[in-house]
Formats: sequence, structure tokens, C-alpha cells
Amino acid sequence: MQDLDINSTTEAVLAQLASTPDPRTREIMQAAVRHLHAFTAEVNLTPDEWLKGIAFMTAVGQACTPYRQEFILLSDVLGLSRLVNVMHDAQGREAAGTETSLLGPFFREQAPEIELGGSVALVSKGSEIMIFGQVTDGAGQGIGGAEMDVWQTDAQGLYDLQANDPSVMDMRARLRCDAEGRFHFRTLKPIGYSIPMDGPVGAMVRQQDRHGFRPAHIHILVAAPGFRELITALYFGDDPNIDSDTVFGVSNSLIIQEKLNLPGSPRPDMPGIRYDFALSRATDEASGRVGSDPSRLMPAG
Ligand code: BEZ
Ligand code: FE
Repeated sequence: MQDLDINSTTEAVLAQLASTPDPRTREIMQAAVRHLHAFTAEVNLTPDEWLKGIAFMTAVGQACTPYRQEFILLSDVLGLSRLVNVMHDAQGREAAGTETSLLGPFFREQAPEIELGGSVALVSKGSEIMIFGQVTDGAGQGIGGAEMDVWQTDAQGLYDLQANDPSVMDMRARLRCDAEGRFHFRTLKPIGYSIPMDGPVGAMVRQQDRHGFRPAHIHILVAAPGFRELITALYFGDDPNIDSDTVFGVSNSLIIQEKLNLPGSPRPDMPGIRYDFALSRATDEASGRVGSDPSRLMPAG
């Protein structure tokens, strides 16, 4: 029997975890215990506060459904998703590679396919903008046939899953670039929107006196064989919350603004955005998905 005190409890737990056979799991769990214990000691956590924390985590779990992942939201508002993305980028993104951004909770597999030049607004109506550009490798060579997923809110700031029943797919599409990696599609200009605030994470954000808004953006996922999948988003520079994204997704290189009469636009009469996406080569250490979100959770339709 051990008489564990403030100083010896952490060591006793670490000693038991030392038998974890998988080295990486052991490293992660031992570090988690060390930091959790240090945090508990630093804030001098009381039993009441600890129970409140347990109740909060329980509520986060209970708020999850097949269409809602409250734990991802928690990770996002605490900056954890951003941190994991930034670290992953640092390990495998080529210098010229496009920066990544959050996958977010609204990605859905199997979005409707559209032709080049088609519109992502399958149901919603509004004035259109044109997005065009090229998918290249880090040396600027076009990647023919690269596949692109696009998803965003409508002009009211709602994703399809928020505005409609789950059978409707709108403001999301898949398209294939041409033989030089060029693409163009039409969409509606999204507006900034609030993250879901009706659950425990929203209550926490309100308690912290934060606004809960994301600046207007368009999510883009680009994939091509032999390259790291790129999960990113383009952010509109004229959004009032461009500098205070509640989930820390914005990077300067991802800020865009629509303009008329853009050179090379397939529709210069329409407000347009030109953006080229550069993919990094896949490596053994850093291949596949770059998003930090644990899985693509939203069912298709
Ligand atoms: C989004 O961009 O869709 C999003 C990202 C993180 C939390 C909530 C929403
Ligand atoms: Fe989003």
C-alpha cells in the first residue's frame, strides 16, 4: 500500500503506465498525465471544480450526434485543432505548398458532382461570384485531373445541414480540374457565421465573453494521387471578424477578396477570385489527410 501525496501521486501513475506496450501510446499517455497533474496543482483544483469539469465533458459527449461533433468544436475553440494543423504542416508541407485550415464539422462525403464552370449553389439563390485558378505542385506544374471538394454556408450564413433536412445537399460540390489542373466554378458569396452556440461549448464561449463568429469563408479540399491531401479554406478580407476567428482558422495567405474584371477570369463581368492551390508531395511520414479533425463525421445524405 502506498501513501500517495501531492509529490508522489504523479510518479505512481507514470510507473503504472510504463507497462503500456505501444511506445507512442505510452509517450502520449504519460505526457498527458504529467501535464494534467501539473495543471491540477497549478490552479489548485477543488473537488467542486473538478466535478464541474466532469459535468462539462459529459455534456460535450452527450451533445454529439451523427450530425454534430461537439468535441471537434471544443478542440477548435481551444485552438487545439489549429495547433495540430500547424505542427503537421511544419513537418510535411513544401515551402510553396498552400497553407491548410480547419476541416470543421460540416464536411460531407459524396457531395454532388458539378462540371467545370458549374454552380455550387444547387438550391440557394443569390448573386454569384466566380472562383478560378490552377492546382499545381510545389514547382508550379499543373496537376491534371486533381479533385476538389468545395463547401460553404449560403448567403444567410447557414450550412445545408442547418438550413434543411439531411437529405438535401446544397452549397457543396465536387469537381475535377482539367488536364492542366485548371478549375473554375460559380458560387454565392458566403457571410460570416456563428459556430453552433446552443451546446456546452457555446455556453463556455459565452462565459468567456467571446463572440463565437467565424469570418466568411469557403472550404476547399484538393486531392491528387501522390500528393498530400490539402484541406484549406479561403477567407474574405472584408469580414469584420477576419482578425478574431473564434476557431483560429485564418492565415494571411488564405485571405481573398472578390474583384470585377480579373485577368484570366472566364467571366470578367462577374465578381471573381483567382486562387492557385499548390500541393505538397506525399511522403511516408506525412501523407494523407492534413486536417486535425479525427474523422469525416457528417453522413453523406
Ligand atoms: C466551419 O468552418 O465550418 C467550422 C469550423 C470550426 C467550428 C465550427 C465551424
Ligand atoms: Fe465553415
